[in-house]
Amino acid sequence: MTLKAKQEIENADVIVGYKTYVKLIQPIIKNKVEVLSGNMGQEVDRAKAAVTKALENKQVAVISSGDAGVYGMAGVVLEVAAHENADVPIEVVSGVTAATAAASALGAPLVGDFAVISLSDILTPWSLIEKRLRAAAQSDFVIVLYNPQSKGRKEPLAKAHRILLEYLDPKTVVGIVKNANRQQQESKIISLEEMRTHEIDMLTILIVGNSTTKVVNGKMVTPRGYTI
Ligand SMILES: C[S@@+](CC[C@H](N)C(=O)[O-])C[C@H]1O[C@@H](n2cnc3c(N)ncnc32)[C@H](O)[C@@H]1O
Repeated sequence: MTLKAKQEIENADVIVGYKTYVKLIQPIIKNKVEVLSGNMGQEVDRAKAAVTKALENKQVAVISSGDAGVYGMAGVVLEVAAHENADVPIEVVSGVTAATAAASALGAPLVGDFAVISLSDILTPWSLIEKRLRAAAQSDFVIVLYNPQSKGRKEPLAKAHRILLEYLDPKTVVGIVKNANRQQQESKIISLEEMRTHEIDMLTILIVGNSTTKVVNGKMVTPRGYTI
């Protein structure tokens, strides 16, 4: 998290968030703060609860993991507040998104152009995800894959893997990071052809290198183009 995010959480009267993320920030939540936590899939309800509390003149912190503006709660809170004509000031506080957190664990894979794609087809149709995957792979972007797979949603990653292999060398460098920047952080550098044999879950992010990405002293590096 950023220092500003930590300060806002410490100054809040009410904290609203998915229960797993609320647990992660427990050490910095003050005793008397009201905490409204909920489940995955209840994002609109959480945004509505946050707006209601803000209309009661409470200082509310809605939390996401990483950066609230990257597949996080920032958009839905702004949409709900506008929909309800709620006249409350809203500030989006930036955080450290999983892509850059994972990149630092792996080395420096994102120093050039990269594309970020979520494999979750809950809110985005698979046809659009596939179109974006093909475009990114054809354009030699480094590709960051958020939401790769969960216990009940394994097919998108299998399909994405097949699509990437249509365009990329099977030896393309891939970085896998679980729990980036958290105590239980794990990272591995493998090849695209090996990707499906590794344990990948919803706490994991994948960085698929481009045609120039290489492993340098055990670190994943995409050269920026400097002559060394
Ligand atoms: C709904 S998105 C939320 C992204 C988050 N707002 C961010 O900026 O990182 C959830 C996905 O982000 C990725 N993710 C979030 N935190 C992570 C972490 N600490 N380590 C690895 N991946 C993470 C995983 O791919 C996970 O399935």
